[in-house]
Amino acid sequence: MSFPVTTVTARESLWLEAENREVRPGRSVLDAVFDVAVLGGGIAGITTALLARRDGARVVVVEAGRVAGGVSGANTAKVTALQSTVLSAIRARHGDEATGVYAQASLAAVEQVAALAGEEGIDCDLARRPAFTYAAEESELPAVSAEHAAARAAGLPTVLTEDVDLPYPVAGAVRLDDQLEFHPVRYVRGLAGAVDGDGSVVAEGIRALAVENGSPCRVRTTGGTISARQVVVATHYPLLDRGLFFARLEPERSYAIAARVRGALPQGLSISAGSTTRSLRSYGDLLIVGGEGHQTGAREATAERFARLETFARRHWDVEAITHRWSAQDPASYDQLPVVGPYVPRSSRVFVASGFMKWGLTGGTMAAMILRDLLGGRGHPWASTFSPNRLSLRSAPKLARMNAQVGADFVGDRLRPPDTADVSSVPAGEARVVGDGRGKKGVFRDEEGTVHAVSLRCTHMGCLLRFNAAERSWDCPCHGSRFDVDGAVLEGPAVKPLERR
Ligand SMILES: Cc1cc2nc3c(=O)[nH]c(=O)nc-3n(C[C@H](O)[C@H](O)[C@H](O)COP(=O)(O)OP(=O)(O)OC[C@H]3O[C@@H](n4cnc5c(N)ncnc54)[C@H](O)[C@@H]3O)c2cc1C
Ligand code: FES
Repeated sequence: MSFPVTTVTARESLWLEAENREVRPGRSVLDAVFDVAVLGGGIAGITTALLARRDGARVVVVEAGRVAGGVSGANTAKVTALQSTVLSAIRARHGDEATGVYAQASLAAVEQVAALAGEEGIDCDLARRPAFTYAAEESELPAVSAEHAAARAAGLPTVLTEDVDLPYPVAGAVRLDDQLEFHPVRYVRGLAGAVDGDGSVVAEGIRALAVENGSPCRVRTTGGTISARQVVVATHYPLLDRGLFFARLEPERSYAIAARVRGALPQGLSISAGSTTRSLRSYGDLLIVGGEGHQTGAREATAERFARLETFARRHWDVEAITHRWSAQDPASYDQLPVVGPYVPRSSRVFVASGFMKWGLTGGTMAAMILRDLLGGRGHPWASTFSPNRLSLRSAPKLARMNAQVGADFVGDRLRPPDTADVSSVPAGEARVVGDGRGKKGVFRDEEGTVHAVSLRCTHMGCLLRFNAAERSWDCPCHGSRFDVDGAVLEGPAVKPLERR
């Protein structure tokens, strides 16, 4: 049976649309020397800032846009230690000990979120829910059993079940009770409100450009230079190149829709175990469906991704209207574990938190719990497992493949001929790579007929950008930087805009 679907581009997420507001610059941050400068106002940065402040530090948060305006405001908002088939993947690569640390840290992060929301009195629709990883077909049952086995070995009280509150039959599922759903923008902004004050500042609309290690460290920003004894880089994809993170982290985009449906909505947090991911939950009278992940900058970044999610929703629910469509990305590390800790070996001044593999609502929170102790000069029992400076020999082939792909993209896109030499042939609402005497440029023509032309050289390390039709942006296949059609940076690691052509 086929369903009529609409093909449209992404808009703001369900969470950000409801909480739309202007950028808040905060008071001047240039005169004081702070104890800790946190770069990035997502869940990782803001939770770190709050825990450091509670630990006695005077903190400044520097956020390029609005707090929670990054992927922390554009996800499916499940806070759970059962994360698809992540535990079995970590177990296969790192064994039981690392899996145990990841699972227990994730569980502690779930409780930390509940505790912080309660202590700070944040109204963020927080509710306890069971989480499920389900097999859509018999062939996916081994993945579900492996996840259950990994979870039990790691000390999580999971159970196997066939009873999942979805309107279609499943072959089986693993279930973990008492996990959380919430409104991520209200939660993170609530935490930010608790950071600001008594000498600590949250400053929006300031982009960090570079960090100079020293005593104190100096952070060069679009708003001037900030001084701090210690710096935490929580810019999602790490801003600085010196830790070679760009060789170890691979950003992946995903899509989500919200739909108003007639009839019962799922109350649990479900995700399929197979290769076609469908992530499900409800929010009020809305159904949320996520999935359709692919590497950032891939040629398949098209609006049809939303149509596939919509078709899925219409097949299984009586959909009245699709109310929201959004898309975002998250870096995964080459060895399946987040990177949290000193930016370079033994640094006690500059730290990083990234690589959350689309599970950073728990990951960013557990990163903050580790960083609070490292910033305070104390050790942390989870720190070595997530150390950015670990080397996983078992994951070396994946690392080699990732970097070979980056090299192939770098060279291949340069050799590829332009789509056209004629700007006037670019249709309205579309983009083309146009060859001119100076090489290739990216040309987008909007619905009013205005042409937006930019250099296609990514300002991070020079890879050639590809058009993302779902979001009307130029995306980098190498490390995931994204730019709007006029060249402004949407996502790093790039910090400089594209040259306008
Ligand atoms: C579609 C999708 C669904 C997801 N669903 C879930 C889920 O259900 N559960 C879950 O646990 N996780 C989920 N995730 C993952 C989760 O949202 C992320 O892992 C997490 O939000 C990452 O937080 P962050 O603080 O690292 O990044 P961000 O929230 O992106 O924060 C980084 C901030 O840094 C700012 N910034 C960047 N560069 C600079 C700079 N140079 N100077 C200053 N500021 C800068 C950005 O503006 C941004 O606000 C999902 C991800 C996707 C893509
Ligand atoms: S993001 Fe690194 S080259 Fe584009």
